[in-house]
Amino acid sequence: MAIKSVFVIGAGTMGNGIAQVSAQAGYNVTMSDIKDEFISKGIAAIEKSLDRGVKKGTMQESEKAEIISRIKTTLDMNDAKDADLIIEAAPEVIDLKKNIFKQLDGICKDDAILATNTSSLPIGEIAAATKRPEKVVGIHFMNPVPVIKGVEVIPGMKTSNDVLEASKEYVKSIGKEPCEAKDLSGFIVSRLVDVLMNEAIRCVMDGNKPEEIDKAMRLCCNFPIGPLELCDLAGADIVLHGTETIYSEFGERWTPAPLLKSMVQEGKLGRKTGRGFYDYTQK
Ligand SMILES: NC(=O)c1ccc[n+]([C@@H]2O[C@H](COP(=O)([O-])OP(=O)(O)OC[C@H]3O[C@@H](n4cnc5c(N)ncnc54)[C@H](O)[C@@H]3O)[C@@H](O)[C@H]2O)c1
Repeated sequence: MAIKSVFVIGAGTMGNGIAQVSAQAGYNVTMSDIKDEFISKGIAAIEKSLDRGVKKGTMQESEKAEIISRIKTTLDMNDAKDADLIIEAAPEVIDLKKNIFKQLDGICKDDAILATNTSSLPIGEIAAATKRPEKVVGIHFMNPVPVIKGVEVIPGMKTSNDVLEASKEYVKSIGKEPCEAKDLSGFIVSRLVDVLMNEAIRCVMDGNKPEEIDKAMRLCCNFPIGPLELCDLAGADIVLHGTETIYSEFGERWTPAPLLKSMVQEGKLGRKTGRGFYDYTQK
């Protein structure tokens, strides 16, 4: 099936990035959320991201305007009825995602692909909320979406081969590379990276300074970003959800660090709340 239109659920960190890269590749995009203020924030983030290209000289003002004009916004999920590909990027809460997919099942046309951007929740469980699990797939973008080349594509047990292949084609069409992963908690990337972040948080609990941990991993291991900087970028709540989900599947070695839990309880989620392992209020 030829994908022409993309409907993105959630205008947050990931949703606005997915809307941007899809519109940049020429798709007609609709970005939805539950409140106008979240939509406005999402559009502002897209404009800021495209402005970087204009300032660098890699994009014309006219191109930016054209990309923005390809993104419609809505607060009504019923507007997904004609979309070819729906990508859900709502918060990492299984019941919320299952509820969204149940609703989509009643709204979307029969041949639509229903994708979730979940970092670690089982695709099969989300698919089971619909009567068309063969149309459900994981398309897991990385943060920041416009920058990172790799995208995990995760078929559930019942995902059809056509849906898997069309999902990979979509990923290639936006200039990215699909990496196929098994439908086990955390897939490949979160499963490996969450354990690193969780252990880095335990290093903080053992008395190491966040800036020394990140410096060590950047300079000694050539990492482009330290594990605690990455936790602040992703959001401590997302990392805790991921770690808890993977823990529930793989057991003891995955127990979330107590400091990670208390940071989430205190709202120290990272960049999005202005405070994580580092202070972002002055930047
Ligand atoms: N942040 C990351 O680094 C990252 C990376 C990869 C994958 N993910 C995954 O992407 C998903 C979204 O994460 P995020 O960081 O963008 O979250 P976020 O909190 O920044 O954004 C989520 C948005 O979804 C909206 N929303 C909630 N319920 C909705 C509904 N019913 N309909 C439409 N919109 C709704 C919220 O208002 C919010 O604006 C999660 O599943 C997360 O695990 C996140």
